Amino acid sequence: MICFSVKLVYVNIILTLSRSVDGSYCDSMSSLLLPMVVLQCTYVVEALQVIGGNVKVVQGGTAILPCHVTGTNDDLTQITWQRRTREKPHNDNFLTILPREGVQFVNGGDDRFKYIGNFNNKNGTLQLSNVALKDEGRYTCIFTLFPSGNQKTEILLIVIVPPFTNIKDNLPTLGTEEVLFATCTAAGSKPPAEVRWLTDALGEKVRTTTNSTQYDNDTTTTVSSLFGVPTSEINGHQVQCVISSDAMSKEETLPFSIQIYFPPTEVNIRAISENSFECVTEANPSANFTWSRYSSLAVVKNTLTWKVML
Ligand SMILES: *[C@@H]1O[C@H](CO)[C@@H](O)[C@H](O)[C@H]1NC(C)=O
Ligand SMILES: *[C@@H]1O[C@H](CO)[C@@H](O)[C@H](O)[C@H]1NC(C)=O
Ligand SMILES: *[C@@H]1O[C@H](CO)[C@@H](O)[C@H](O)[C@H]1NC(C)=O
Ligand SMILES: *[C@@H]1O[C@H](CO)[C@@H](O)[C@H](O)[C@H]1NC(C)=O
Repeated sequence: MICFSVKLVYVNIILTLSRSVDGSYCDSMSSLLLPMVVLQCTYVVEALQVIGGNVKVVQGGTAILPCHVTGTNDDLTQITWQRRTREKPHNDNFLTILPREGVQFVNGGDDRFKYIGNFNNKNGTLQLSNVALKDEGRYTCIFTLFPSGNQKTEILLIVIVPPFTNIKDNLPTLGTEEVLFATCTAAGSKPPAEVRWLTDALGEKVRTTTNSTQYDNDTTTTVSSLFGVPTSEINGHQVQCVISSDAMSKEETLPFSIQIYFPPTEVNIRAISENSFECVTEANPSANFTWSRYSSLAVVKNTLTWKVML
């Protein structure tokens, strides 16, 4: 017997006093509040219950599908596992556990499943390693008890998939019209990833748009594009793409240097001393310089040097 509460109860006692005065009745009422302590006791009967719980696991990880039965002294004769997954959308038995024979797969084995419960403790817990998206779904564990019959519960397995991330440079060349600089992609994320650009210093000079596509398997690819006018002023600016998702343990920051490509246009040769000349031009990527005339001349980077005989 378990006493779980003590109640203080006020009992309202109504007293009615009647008196006869000169043939008329005068009624008066008076209330008395009497505090009474009532000890309330209840028998707590532990009910038979199958206890499971939902599970969330990262693709490739290991999931524990918990399941045990409590509150019964019945004999356990068998534990059965059923599943309804992305791969097998029809509910079917896939594994049974018997007291003597142990674990038996119903339609072909799968090494990834391991029985880690304990039959004597009425614990049917399974472990599933190297979880794939196809394993996502509902798992039912059924305890066959004698004499009470079958008792079951359902466990929802949710698989989360971190995205593949990358930045692709669209190789913009110098110009005056807005163009796409680069795209930042978070591919195949479940749940979807958030992709954004950090472009603080550039302010209004750049613009971003974000686009996402969801696939049949519930993974989503999110692409954020960075646009701007490809001026030489913007060339070399550092920006970042930040990707976050519940499927990732922490957000990922990809640095990106905006490069505006332009070929050498004006090429100048100037004398930097009596016996050396410099070839000057601007280009991105930097231009290679090739001097040609005599093979014996000394060339260091873009400077041509030779000895002058006096
Ligand atoms: C059932 O077995 C699992 C795996 O061994 C264990 O983690 C869990 O605590 C057990 N549950 C109970 C109620 O004993
Ligand atoms: C945005 O998504 C649509 C539909 O999937 C696609 O056609 C389009 O090319 C995407 N745009 C960008 C900039 O990725
Ligand atoms: C989900 O579907 C897409 C498109 O069919 C595919 O590229 C991707 O690999 C799939 N992801 C998983 C985790 O199976
Ligand atoms: C410039 O020189 C580098 C190093 O020798 C070489 O890898 C690159 O291809 C050259 N570029 C051009 C445009 O010739």
